[in-house]
Amino acid sequence: MAMTEILPPTSDGIAKAAALLRQGLLVAFPTETVYGLGGDARSDLAVARIYEAKGRPRFNPLIAHVSDMDMARRLAVFDDRAEALAARFWPGPLTLVLPLREDAGLSPYVTAELPTVAIRLPAHPVARALIATFGGPLAAPSANPSGRVSPTRAAHVMDGLAGRIAAVIDGGACAVGVESTILGLFEATELLRPGGVAAEEIEALTGPLALGGHGPRPNAPGQLASHYAPASPVRLEASDRRAGEVRLGFGPGEADLSLSPSGDLVEAAANLFHLLREADSLAQGRPIAVAPIPETGLGRAINDRLRRAAAPR
Ligand code: TXA
Ligand code: MG
Repeated sequence: MAMTEILPPTSDGIAKAAALLRQGLLVAFPTETVYGLGGDARSDLAVARIYEAKGRPRFNPLIAHVSDMDMARRLAVFDDRAEALAARFWPGPLTLVLPLREDAGLSPYVTAELPTVAIRLPAHPVARALIATFGGPLAAPSANPSGRVSPTRAAHVMDGLAGRIAAVIDGGACAVGVESTILGLFEATELLRPGGVAAEEIEALTGPLALGGHGPRPNAPGQLASHYAPASPVRLEASDRRAGEVRLGFGPGEADLSLSPSGDLVEAAANLFHLLREADSLAQGRPIAVAPIPETGLGRAINDRLRRAAAPR
């Protein structure tokens, strides 16, 4: 594929993108969390192209993105617990892993042949309009080459995937900045990945969450120890300043770049992936030192992504 088209987030741009998706081609699109690499979730060929474009080594289950509850209920079985979570947090940065309906019609490459399916109803108006115009579920992992930092701007998508996908809709910077929280609705309600909805908010509705790993669980890239990796080494919990490092700050104190000068976790999440890229290009192989981030609210998702960025590879 020669050229990746940059489309505007207008009804014309969305119509063009939907037409490309109907041809089985791939379109990256903005969501409130990160940019997704979308393909027709009912087409084996389109889903296989997603893996190829990302350079993912093997098939891992993907999230099916829907534009409304009717579309969601055609894919999975919603019990009372699932309905309550959807009513409270959708549209928004929450993904629910639910029993797959036999007549869902999804490509088995989306579910990696698990008996469950991960579903998300995003809040971003462009994402919802695209899915609604396309008229069916979109499989969409983050729109970055496998193992690299997730994209929160169209330019990030182009950096990694230009020439490998048909188009990207440029919807500006993503407001949340970290991927969705993933809940497995198994016997217990399990936190499979911390993300854009704070666990505390969910627990206010469900009671204490179990930590993931009991239900049927894939070994997916986002859950591998080394992921979201910049090229430079990363040092975490850096409360001291050391010579030769690029410092990524949080809260007061001197830093080369700051996730949030005021110590706001929501702002820090929104800046995280963009500033990891900036720090990486400043560092040129020198270590990136990241200030301590509290393990509360969105801090849990931020620390999860930072630990993966810092993991040995
Ligand atoms: O915010 C997000 O969730 C972004 C945007 C684009 O929506 N998408 C995203 O997708 O992060 P991806 O492919 O990078 O992460 C999907 C995660 C994987 O870690 C995978 O393990 C999990 O969803 N997953 C998918 N299906 C599953 C299933 N049936 N059971 C358990 N986990 C599943
Ligand atoms: Mg990803």
